[in-house]
Amino acid sequence: MSAITTPTAGTATLVDSDSAYQVESLIAEDIDAYLAQHQHKSLLRFITCGSVDDGKSTLIGRLLYDSKMIFEDQLATLEADSKRVGTQGGEIDFALLVDGLAAEREQGITIDVAYRFFSTEKRKFIVADTPGHEQYTRNMVTGASTADLAVILIDARKGVLTQTRRHSYLAHLIGIRNLVLAVNKMDLIDYDRARYDAIVADYAAFAAGIGITAFTAIPISGFKGDNITTRSANTPWYAGPTLMAHLETVELDVTAEQDRPFRMAVQWVNRPNLDFRGFSGLISSGTVKPGDAVRVLPSGKTSAIARIVTMPGADGSGELDEAVAGQSVTLTLADEIDCSRGDVLAVAGDPPQVADQFETTIVWMAEEAMLPGRSYWLKLASQTVTATLQAPKYQVNVNTMEHLAARTLELNAIGVANLSTDRPLVFEPYADNRALGGFILIDKISNATVAAGMIHFSLRRAQNVHWQATEVTREKHADLKNQKPAVLWFTGLSGAGKSTIANIVERKLVRMNRHTLLLDGDNVRHGLNKDLGFTDADRVENIRRVGEVAKLMTDAGLIVVTAFISPFRAEREMVRAMMAPGEFIEVHIDTPLAEAEARDVKGLYAKARAGKLANFTGIDSPYEAPQDPEIRIDTTAMTPEEAADAIIARIIP
Ligand code: ADX
Repeated sequence: MSAITTPTAGTATLVDSDSAYQVESLIAEDIDAYLAQHQHKSLLRFITCGSVDDGKSTLIGRLLYDSKMIFEDQLATLEADSKRVGTQGGEIDFALLVDGLAAEREQGITIDVAYRFFSTEKRKFIVADTPGHEQYTRNMVTGASTADLAVILIDARKGVLTQTRRHSYLAHLIGIRNLVLAVNKMDLIDYDRARYDAIVADYAAFAAGIGITAFTAIPISGFKGDNITTRSANTPWYAGPTLMAHLETVELDVTAEQDRPFRMAVQWVNRPNLDFRGFSGLISSGTVKPGDAVRVLPSGKTSAIARIVTMPGADGSGELDEAVAGQSVTLTLADEIDCSRGDVLAVAGDPPQVADQFETTIVWMAEEAMLPGRSYWLKLASQTVTATLQAPKYQVNVNTMEHLAARTLELNAIGVANLSTDRPLVFEPYADNRALGGFILIDKISNATVAAGMIHFSLRRAQNVHWQATEVTREKHADLKNQKPAVLWFTGLSGAGKSTIANIVERKLVRMNRHTLLLDGDNVRHGLNKDLGFTDADRVENIRRVGEVAKLMTDAGLIVVTAFISPFRAEREMVRAMMAPGEFIEVHIDTPLAEAEARDVKGLYAKARAGKLANFTGIDSPYEAPQDPEIRIDTTAMTPEEAADAIIARIIP
């Protein structure tokens, strides 16, 4: 039989060795049958929450071991490592199986999300092993985002701790419906029922307070193997399932989703030839049959399902009479209606909502703090739009669930903030549909994921505010002035010469009978933006407002000249995107820092160097120079007058 011997022989917790033997011989004799058997098993994704001290790695190691997912070469390493760095006095230390890299082991800490696969005869499992510390909140959220179930580990000697509350709150927030309270290390409290009952009661009181209505408590010992795969004789008072039995039978989210209304986000339009046009995607909820009336969102157009096409099956047909949540399919429609990637197909009579302003929960995942007002890419299902966050309404203390005032969210912070998008999003509240309510935010310049978010609801104010068509168009305004509107966006360090050159440019344009308006940083900060300072967030808001004003001015047909440091590439690109193509002309007034500082027209550099002025651009606040501006002016090589002429020559033919 197997070469695997158990270090805990005699505790009656071994995997049933007969069935293990059957699996082995099946692999040996008929690999195809073995794979087929695996393929038809359902898949449960779960996370384990707890710290190394709670015995998390030991528990996962035990699950892998008992399901025979350890290969023999790994076992040899495990035995050797257990003797060398194990914490179990030479007995097999299951934690070593899980704790990954040797370097991490020696530091005694596990960092990233590690996904592990194992399977039993009933089910396949993917377990995301996420670190427990608060500084790894983002890792836990990442691991939890696709999980059906969370195992909250408690050390029976310690009971409910701050981290237990934090993990439970996060799991609940992410929408995990199945929570297991695994009261571990029961062997160390002599399987004391009263202690166990008290921990469960304590947890139940806390859980009810944050809206967790149900959980399954199991007394276990990961190390000894009690109630992991077989019922323990040490807890005769416990009548519930073993941990493995529970994992094998708990209802999967995808099964629950099948009873909800049909929705499928279109991943791509499958058009191999002119006779076939299918819409491919993963059905996120409900069931669908040929003949069903469906609606395409956001357009609202309706049609009916013609065919459901999938990979050709054993009968070679590749057509289905019905498809359900969790299946990836290609649908064809009875009518030729517009439908493209990012659209959502839904049951016609009960479609999801469409909106462009939302209240959301945001989990911030980037080192660089959230900047209210900055544009990020937002990805929700197969939709990608531009989104802007307002300053948070509050931040949640993840240890106490208290609401705290906050102006921004730092790495690992969780808060509630309103969000608006540049185009309507098809969505459902996250509580109803994780696929259509959950999103990520991506930095437009670095392409890094900076946040995960969950939609609560759309803002009613967005539903009641509509775009009004005006009769005098921007083209009419421009015609009247006999000019092409434009924005000359000057950017550069303080003291670079922006205001000086912009002023000459405007004067010259007016002399040429052009209708202009100069918006200057110092001036706008006396009026419209007098509430703003010089933090990154305030500078983002400064430029957002100036961008909106410049946009209105171009609608009025004007040539707008702006002179703002505008230190961030992202906001300059945001303003560029707001304007009609070709209307935004970025002018980099390129003066080296040393030169601007030597001139120090306003004496601000001296103040900043003396520590009397904080957040000064170029000193202790960044300046991101344009990479590819339409116009670059080297102020060390020409006079302001020459610079102005050079700019005008570029824009007036
Ligand atoms: S921006 O960064 O938000 O675009 P803006 O152009 O509006 O800045 O304002 C810059 C002007 O404010 C500077 O020319 C300078 O006169 C003044 N100022 C005062 N404090 C600062 C500071 N900490 N950093 C930069 N400029 C400052």
